[in-house]
Amino acid sequence: MTDAARLDERGASIAPRDPPMPSTKPAPGSLSYRDRFRLWRNGMIGDPGFRRLSRRLPGLRRIANRRANGLFAITAGFANAQILLACVELDLFARLAPAPLGVAEIARQVALTPEATERLLRAAEGLDLVCTTGDGRWTLADHGAVVAASPGIAAMVRHHAMVYRDLADPVALLRDPPAETATSRFWSYVGGEPGAPDAAAYSELMRVSQDMVIAEVLDAYSMAGHARLIDIGGGDGAFIAAAGERWKDLELDLFDLPAVANRARDRLGRGILGPRLTIHGGSFFDDPIPGEPDCYALIRVLYDHDDEAALRILTNIRRAMDPGDTLIIGEPMAGDTPGGKLVAAYFTFYLLAMRSGRCRTPADIFALLRAAGFIRMRSHATTMPVVASLVSAQI
Ligand SMILES: C[S@@+](CC[C@H](N)C(=O)[O-])C[C@H]1O[C@@H](n2cnc3c(N)ncnc32)[C@H](O)[C@@H]1O
Repeated sequence: MTDAARLDERGASIAPRDPPMPSTKPAPGSLSYRDRFRLWRNGMIGDPGFRRLSRRLPGLRRIANRRANGLFAITAGFANAQILLACVELDLFARLAPAPLGVAEIARQVALTPEATERLLRAAEGLDLVCTTGDGRWTLADHGAVVAASPGIAAMVRHHAMVYRDLADPVALLRDPPAETATSRFWSYVGGEPGAPDAAAYSELMRVSQDMVIAEVLDAYSMAGHARLIDIGGGDGAFIAAAGERWKDLELDLFDLPAVANRARDRLGRGILGPRLTIHGGSFFDDPIPGEPDCYALIRVLYDHDDEAALRILTNIRRAMDPGDTLIIGEPMAGDTPGGKLVAAYFTFYLLAMRSGRCRTPADIFALLRAAGFIRMRSHATTMPVVASLVSAQI
């Protein structure tokens, strides 16, 4: 008998039963106190009565407000990113950097109507990108001043237009990822040797976006005790050049795919580093790591690669190292800090669009290093984990 046709003993029909729901409550014994607290807390957060109460009590109200703003920022993320993209495409920050401008002048420069310009400025004001002066003109606010001073951020924002197209249907991407995406084509080296034009496109983006990463890594790890540094997957050479400028006695090597190494030679070959710098073309998977360095750097390389490929790179580097040599790995890493959490979310999905790689915690990297035969692994504090974290290891 179906539920709809069920009758009670007196022959009256009774309401159909709800279909059995899978129990969401795990056996209490299998959960830690922390996890049980989390479940209790989730229940409270979802409870309308508790939400009403939290709006009335000042302490709870502050927390609730912060949480609500955070959730709204996530929900509105795409609109916010598009506001920033519009500002970058119109060069708004560079235009406002020298002096405040009125709406009419901005409108003339960016070739929009005054109404459209005002709309963009108001939206950008909400994101702390621009603000008004006392006389009603517009100038840079904190975020805008940072973007104006960092060409790397503008370059990242521009290339996001491509990444976001790949992420337009996130469920489809998770469920049935295509072999190739626009993002994977852009980072063509991940699937093999890129041609020169591809290398030019991604190397340029890497170079302009590297400033902040370089500062974090070089501030967190001193090369003073080393005689020779090799930057493996060093791209256009911004990191090796910065290290060479900071430690004047350091001998320098850069190792990258031949097409990229050629570009680095064009850029740095005749520079002030002169004979201190040697540039090598080759693959970090199979070719012997050249030179006789005592410090090996992998900056923003490992996260591009799945575990198997990352282990191959580390094993190849380990083969070249002598006892006492050091490998440093600098890249955005997932973690419990606010920056580490942002990194985890962003890169996990970015690398999904790229069809390769993994955003790792320092502990994940230690596990790979151990598997490759490294010992003495260390985490070095950086000031902004959202930009880069740093670990080192020896053999
Ligand atoms: C994400 S970029 C990082 C570049 C630079 N370290 C930085 O932080 O700007 C990765 C670099 O690894 C290089 N690369 C990729 N596959 C390689 C391989 N098989 N052998 C050597 N270098 C490789 C790329 O050409 C690129 O320069």
